[in-house]
Amino acid sequence: MSNDEQRRSWAEPYKIKMVEPVRIPSEQEREEAIRDAGYNTFLLQSRDVYIDLLTDSGTSAMSDQQWAGMMLGDESYAGSRNFYHLQDAVRHFYGYDFVVPTHQGRGAEHIISKLMIEEGDYIPGNMYFTTTKLHQELAGGTFVDVIIDEAHDPQSEHPFKANVDVGKLSDLINEVGADRIPYVSIATAVNMAGGQPISLSNLKEVRELTQHHGIPIIHDMTRVAENAYFIKTREDEYSNWSIAEIVREICRHTDGATMSAKKDALVNIGGFLAMNDKELFERARNMCVVYEGLHTYGGMAGRDMEALAIGISESVDEDHIHARVGQVQYLGEKIMDAGVPVVHPIGSHGVFLDAKRFLPHLDQDELPAQALAAELYVDSGVRSMERGFVSAGRDKDTDENIHPELELVRLTIPRRVYTQAHMDVVAESVEAVYDRREEIGGLEFVYEPEYLRFFQSRFEKINQQA
Ligand code: F0G
Repeated sequence: MSNDEQRRSWAEPYKIKMVEPVRIPSEQEREEAIRDAGYNTFLLQSRDVYIDLLTDSGTSAMSDQQWAGMMLGDESYAGSRNFYHLQDAVRHFYGYDFVVPTHQGRGAEHIISKLMIEEGDYIPGNMYFTTTKLHQELAGGTFVDVIIDEAHDPQSEHPFKANVDVGKLSDLINEVGADRIPYVSIATAVNMAGGQPISLSNLKEVRELTQHHGIPIIHDMTRVAENAYFIKTREDEYSNWSIAEIVREICRHTDGATMSAKKDALVNIGGFLAMNDKELFERARNMCVVYEGLHTYGGMAGRDMEALAIGISESVDEDHIHARVGQVQYLGEKIMDAGVPVVHPIGSHGVFLDAKRFLPHLDQDELPAQALAAELYVDSGVRSMERGFVSAGRDKDTDENIHPELELVRLTIPRRVYTQAHMDVVAESVEAVYDRREEIGGLEFVYEPEYLRFFQSRFEKINQQA
């Protein structure tokens, strides 16, 4: 094979020309900060954070080319030339015919859900994502998880844990009828499963079944290039394909997509909805003017669209994606080697600590992942996030808490931002917390907002109210 085999490591294919200082807050500052934040890492101020692994969303470093592109922003209200550049990039790299820009991923999810879902519909998907599922529910639909069982088992080494269980999907179609399923929602590099990929052979199987029933596939392509990397390295048939070719091939087997460009596509803000159906596109761009902005900017500035068009091309570069996923694997292996329980295999955008096995003395109702994220912050100023009971929220019909199998803390790596030495600090901190895991107590809710509660909930230590 080409470059990849010749490279000695995943070393960054760039050098650094601008730096942003970071500060390590003192132990006392960290203790106060997390208490003030109600033990929710989303409520910390970034100035109190040392290494910020809250999310890979909008936190990536742009390239010199992207920054140069920012200066080419055409801020015309209508028909900005940057929109046409973006449209060309979406057509060229992803192969979708039509694009509706949105302010970020959930803007696209809102539009597609409103357009396609009717009250009482079912939307099968390969595991839920928080905002995706919420928009499906707000539109009157019910999300049904059809991912393979292995995805819910943190210790399963299945190489494609985001695969759809075709039997489960087929059963749902037979049970509720194809006319109650407006589309199947397929995510690449499934976030909540730990950044796990779907294989192309599985996607093709899903395609065959859904085409037979006339059901379209809408692709959450937020991390499609990362998924393509795993296909290239794990699915023999594609080992000689380029990342760009695999990305296009994935998109080819779907009918439309929602994109949070803040991840794969290397920008700080932006997203889009893409599709091949002209009639659906006309309706989507009409809805865009109601909720996002005119259909040639959709909530983004011209300069944002320019940076995005360039970011899309950089995202499928072989050396880039090798280094990106390589850095995540490096951190994951270090943490795994120390005996700390994590989700296997290591995913593409982060390392996911298995809080159920990390803190086996806590019940899920004592919020082990939330407590662990808070503890890690206190240890070192490293900010992570909960992906478990708190993120899963409540059942939309019964209002009961959902108890997901996966109770995780996500150490999410921004793209092109941190160094190997930063990864070492993170691993050391995780190990230090693991060594004193028995001392870590649980948390309880003191405030819970109605929607997407993980962002804004507040907590207190159990039995330790002031
Ligand atoms: N789909 C996936 C798979 C995502 O990871 C996200 C965002 C969205 C959709 C929504 O996109 O944030 O641009 O509105 N994930 C972020 C995260 C928030 O931290 O994982 P958005």
